[in-house]
Amino acid sequence: MQERSGEALRICVIGAGYVGLTTGTVLASFGHTVTIVEKDQAKLELLTAGRVPIFEPGLEELMGEDLESKRLSFSSDLASALEEAEVVFVAVGTPSSTDGSADLGAVENVSDEIARALRRPIVLVIKSTVPIGTSDAVSRRVHAGLRRRSDELAALGAVPDSGRVEELCDVVFCPEFLREGRALLDLVHPHRIVIGTRSVRALGLLKTLFASIDAPILVTDRRSAEAIKYASNGFLATKISFINEIANLCEATGADILDVAKGMGLDDRIGDRFLQAGVGYGGSCFPKDTKALLHIAETAGYEFEILRAVIDVNERQKRRVIELLDEHLDDLARRKIALLGLAFKPETDDIREAPSIVVAAELLARGAEVVGYDPQAAGNFANEVPGVRIAESAEEAIQGADAVVLLTEWREFLGLEPSAIKLGMRGDILIDGRNVLDPERVSQAGLRYRGIGRRAVDLGEAQELREGRERC
Ligand code: UDX
Repeated sequence: MQERSGEALRICVIGAGYVGLTTGTVLASFGHTVTIVEKDQAKLELLTAGRVPIFEPGLEELMGEDLESKRLSFSSDLASALEEAEVVFVAVGTPSSTDGSADLGAVENVSDEIARALRRPIVLVIKSTVPIGTSDAVSRRVHAGLRRRSDELAALGAVPDSGRVEELCDVVFCPEFLREGRALLDLVHPHRIVIGTRSVRALGLLKTLFASIDAPILVTDRRSAEAIKYASNGFLATKISFINEIANLCEATGADILDVAKGMGLDDRIGDRFLQAGVGYGGSCFPKDTKALLHIAETAGYEFEILRAVIDVNERQKRRVIELLDEHLDDLARRKIALLGLAFKPETDDIREAPSIVVAAELLARGAEVVGYDPQAAGNFANEVPGVRIAESAEEAIQGADAVVLLTEWREFLGLEPSAIKLGMRGDILIDGRNVLDPERVSQAGLRYRGIGRRAVDLGEAQELREGRERC
């Protein structure tokens, strides 16, 4: 098929979760006609009214524009949406099963529904993160379903000229690399587009779809595309666990992780991104995908040693702030601990696998009184960890605290005045779990500062250093 540059396509997106909603909205803003199919009735009503069930900067505004221009619509009826669509995206969840493997139940259900309802040619694009070989299995499953309907499709005049009903559905794997909080930007300006297909027809259609995006396109077979997604997330998670281990080592040996990370990052083979030591990674992707990749390796009979360590280190790192608190407070029982930031990272209300959950649960188990504040994620957090008192502001959370622990680097926390923090507290311990505060200023305010892999502050020495730098 010829490449149809700039042409508007009819698209169906299955699943109005994070990936489906952002992808569908952005594709509609490119001028394509998009129907997002969602089964959850309450969610559907919310979306149809132009309201977004998640916090994602810019999404509600863009969705509003798409709804107004009628390029975007929502539906619960997959069969009807399939009557029009040329490209169908699968963006349903693949959560972790108890053994760490990805649960493919939703992907399989969707495949079966498509096989039952399809009457015209589509390119089926799997966006959900799935184990290597899944897209091949989906292709086999849909094709088998279509073959069972050969007579019905013939009666409808829907069989392609070649006589092969399988040609009605080309299955492609096209991973998403969206970061929460930046998803719209990542969709419009991705680092790369990976298209896992050997079908010329599918490739032509997808190139048309992505025509307005300026990014390198890598075309591979489906299995390699699936592996690229897991390998990318596994590698990024490895970078984080590595820098967290270096941070712990810095602390044990008197070095400072910020200088170390900066020095490492100046080597462009290493790069300066994803070297921020902290309380460990969380979110809907890294924890799930690293476990799934480990499971994929196990199933293939391969012992993926580094990845196992990455996961273990991350679990331990989430508890690092408890160790730091233990170093300063002889007993955590009845101590009041303020947690600043509950989301797994800033600019999201997502608390899935957030370090805050582990930290709060441990503090509560040890008898501490825990108060939490987050600009967006407080509601989600209160449902997950009910024992934590939720404050309306950082200032309120800090009031009367024995220790303040910063867990998410929201911009508003960077502006907190150390002397005001000290004034509000009963105690004097400030744990900076994201290394974003200035240890010297915090110490000058009379607080005991602890970061992750930071040197203890000696105010006299810091003054000498500053004067030395000024003289140079
Ligand atoms: C990630 C990937 O970046 C994205 O490409 C993929 O498709 C989905 O997973 P996301 O989960 O939104 O995106 O968050 P990201 O910004 O990558 O951060 C993940 C976690 O790592 C957060 O908890 C963050 O705080 C932590 N992190 C990140 C660090 O601890 N240090 C760093 O240097 C970077």
